Amino acid sequence: MGPASLIQSLRDAQRIVALTGAGISAESGLATFRAAQTGLWSKFKPEDLATADAFRRNPKLIWDWYAWRREQALKAEPNAGHLALAEMEKRAPQFLLVTQNVDGLHSRAGSQNIVELHGNVHRALCSENNCSSDNFDVEHGRCRSCGANLRPDVVWFGEMLPPAALQTAIAAAEKCDAFFSIGTSSIVYPAADLWRRAAEHGAIVIEINKDLTPLTPMASYSFLGKAGEFLPELVTAVWDKKKIHESSGAD
Ligand code: OAD
Repeated sequence: MGPASLIQSLRDAQRIVALTGAGISAESGLATFRAAQTGLWSKFKPEDLATADAFRRNPKLIWDWYAWRREQALKAEPNAGHLALAEMEKRAPQFLLVTQNVDGLHSRAGSQNIVELHGNVHRALCSENNCSSDNFDVEHGRCRSCGANLRPDVVWFGEMLPPAALQTAIAAAEKCDAFFSIGTSSIVYPAADLWRRAAEHGAIVIEINKDLTPLTPMASYSFLGKAGEFLPELVTAVWDKKKIHESSGAD
C-alpha cells in the first residue's frame, strides 16, 4: 500500500480534508455525470433538467426527475469507499468531508463532519423567497410560510454554491495538512479549485480516481483505481498498522 512517505504524512497530519464527487458513489450503483455511455449528462441534457429556468418552465418534470434520483439514492447502499472515509474521520485528529454529491450516502455511511457543496436531493427549499424555516408541505410541494413552490435543495447550473458551505470548505482546505480528491473529474468550479488552495498553503494533495483528470499531473500522489478498493486499504495501512506497530513496540 502506497509509498511509505504518504503513510507517514497521513499519520502526522493534524487536519485532513477529503473532497468527493460522483465517482465515490459509482460502486454503489449510482451513475456519475460525465461517463461517455452511462453518465447522467450523456442521457439527459443538464440545461433541460438542472437549471432554474427548466424548473420555472416545468416544475413537475424537474420534481419527477429528482424523485427518481432520490429513489435511486435510497435504493443504493454506502460502499467500502464511503465507509473508509467515515473511519478516517474517527482516526484523524481533525477531518472534514466536502462532497459535491447530493445522494446522502456519506451520512448513511457514518460520516459526521460533512459540507455539502451542491446540496442534497433529500431536502427541499422555498423556490421564491428563500424562506429560512423549513415550514414546508412537501407532499403538495408548497412553502407554508409564503405559498411558493418548493424546489429540490440542490445547486443548479448558473447558481451560486451555498455561501457558508463554500466558506467552510475553503477555510478547511487552506488550513489542512492533507487534501484528498476522490472520484471527481475536477472540472466543475469552485470545487475543482479547492486542491489548489490546499497545495498553496503547503498541504499534500492525494488523488484517487479511476481515470486521469486535470489534477493528476499536479497531485503529490495520484492513485488510478476504484475508491472503494483503495480507501479501505489506505485507512488500514495508515491507522490500523500504526496501532499494531505501537502496541508491539510497547511490549
Ligand atoms: P463526474 O461524472 O464529472 O466525474 C466522476 C469522476 O469519478 C470521473 O473522473 C471518474 O473517472 C471517477 N470515477 C468513476 N468511478 C470511480 C470509482 N469507482 N472510484 C474512483 N473514481 C471513479 O462527477 P463529479 O466530479 O462529481 O454538479 O461532477 C461534479 C459536478 O458536476 C456534480 O456535482 C454535478 C455535475 O454537474 C451539479 O449538479 C451542480
